[in-house]
Amino acid sequence: MTIDQVYGVAPGRRVTLRDLQRATTEGRKWPMLTAYDALSAGIFERAGVPALLVGDSAAMVVYGYDSTVPVTVDELVPLVRGVVRGTTAALVIADLPFGSYEAGAKQAIETSSAFMKDGGAHAVKLEGGAVVLPQVEALVGAGVPVIGHLGLTPQSVHQLGGYRVQGRGEAGQTLLQDAKNFQAAGVSAIVLEAVPAELAARVSIDLSIPIIGIGAGAQVDAQVLVWQDLLGVTEKSPKFVRRYAELGGVMNDAVRSWVDDVEHGIFPSSDQWYS
Ligand code: KIV
Repeated sequence: MTIDQVYGVAPGRRVTLRDLQRATTEGRKWPMLTAYDALSAGIFERAGVPALLVGDSAAMVVYGYDSTVPVTVDELVPLVRGVVRGTTAALVIADLPFGSYEAGAKQAIETSSAFMKDGGAHAVKLEGGAVVLPQVEALVGAGVPVIGHLGLTPQSVHQLGGYRVQGRGEAGQTLLQDAKNFQAAGVSAIVLEAVPAELAARVSIDLSIPIIGIGAGAQVDAQVLVWQDLLGVTEKSPKFVRRYAELGGVMNDAVRSWVDDVEHGIFPSSDQWYS
């Protein structure tokens, strides 16, 4: 089935957060995957992924930084453009990078405008709980569809002291309250990263908006992964990833064969040249 059929979208129209809300209300789980370029975004869309996140994980998997902290709006906007151009039906969400929204509502609106006007994004995602509530309220008020991100928020890795499970013990109550405040402020969905499965299930039961889990167990409304983890391009992946392929190995073997063929004069042959 195509995305149009699954999400009840007329051909030529993109999936919206309302369509995904309907799926959640009807108890249908849905997938979200990261994408950073036109070709792979098109493949993911044709494979049935209705929501593509141009994550700030691009910092690591595209730009080679050692965390998501350094990546900039200028580095991410062209990736958003590529993903939008490579797709026709998927919702494209832009991640607001570290330093591009924390200063306040005005900065958050300016950054989101750049992603929506220059990049063509249909929604934005931002990390953090109570401290970013004013930004969330301002964005929603300005007509920007917003996805919140709670739990392990990788932009705060230096403050958290590493990539650790969040929300254990009393911190779970704070997280649940942050999620409720986000919903009251009008966010369209929440990503919950690396939190105990029981807590994620509680959030999902208590809230009506879609809860998108990554390392948050199965009792949530949707699942998101970084595609290079899902398809086995990254060397190691976190515990919460199931690798559905080992494309890194496939790529290595194919390129190795081509290198050998070039070195031995076996590539190209007459099929690959013009007469
Ligand atoms: O940047 C990203 O890819 C993300 C997902 C892992 C949720 O935020």
